[in-house]
Amino acid sequence: RHPGWPVRLGPLQVRAGTVELRGPRLFDGSTWSKLRIRDRAYLEQWEPTAQEGWDQRNATMSWPAQWSSLRGMARRGTTLPFMILVDGEVAGQITIGNIVRGSLLSAWIGYWVAADRAGGGVATAAVALLTDHAFRDAGLHRLEATVRPENGPSIRVLTKSGYREEGLFKRYLDVAGQWRDHLCFALTTEEVPDGLVRRLVARGEARFP
Ligand code: ACO
Repeated sequence: RHPGWPVRLGPLQVRAGTVELRGPRLFDGSTWSKLRIRDRAYLEQWEPTAQEGWDQRNATMSWPAQWSSLRGMARRGTTLPFMILVDGEVAGQITIGNIVRGSLLSAWIGYWVAADRAGGGVATAAVALLTDHAFRDAGLHRLEATVRPENGPSIRVLTKSGYREEGLFKRYLDVAGQWRDHLCFALTTEEVPDGLVRRLVARGEARFP
């Protein structure tokens, strides 16, 4: 077992509701699929291209394999995968992936929030909860987030959370059928000694329910 897993994070109250993070479960499949199929137009432009097609990759039947793969990587210590719950219901995902230990102690962070829950601080709360967990309990030193320059809401989430822009990765990721440039944002633990959650609460953007 690696440090920081399994765990439940939150709750944290924001405008959209009460945000909690927990590991993916086998029975999340139907809700996960319903949201992903419904929100295709809103999600697809920012996510890695689905080789097998959107509807197939996001079908309820595809979930057990994805769940089992996430669980395996979480057990091996290369991933910290979470479902985002708003008021107790699955409303998105946030994942820390490609955890490299040794003298790097680094990983990426990525997320999505259901369209009908967006704009109310959910992603910002999830990033704060998971960033603090990664730096404290999982022992990481640096987190990196890559985002398309066109993705205004995600860039806002990162800058609001204190992630710094470090550069532009050319033709970095196959998104919506093409190799797309991505901005790289990063944060190291020294920059947030008191944590992101405390800062959100101090700014009045979140509170402990
Ligand atoms: N341009 C700039 N800012 C915007 C825009 C826009 N077009 N639209 C909304 N915003 C702002 C909002 O006003 C808000 O900022 P504020 O609180 O200062 O007003 C901010 O963007 C969004 O913050 P939250 O409410 O915390 O975020 P939300 O819960 O809405 O989730 C997310 C944001 C995850 C990006 C959501 O829109 C989503 O799932 N999009 C589709 C998938 C996606 O893009 N995922 C991110 C990929 S990149 C990565 O994972 C690192």
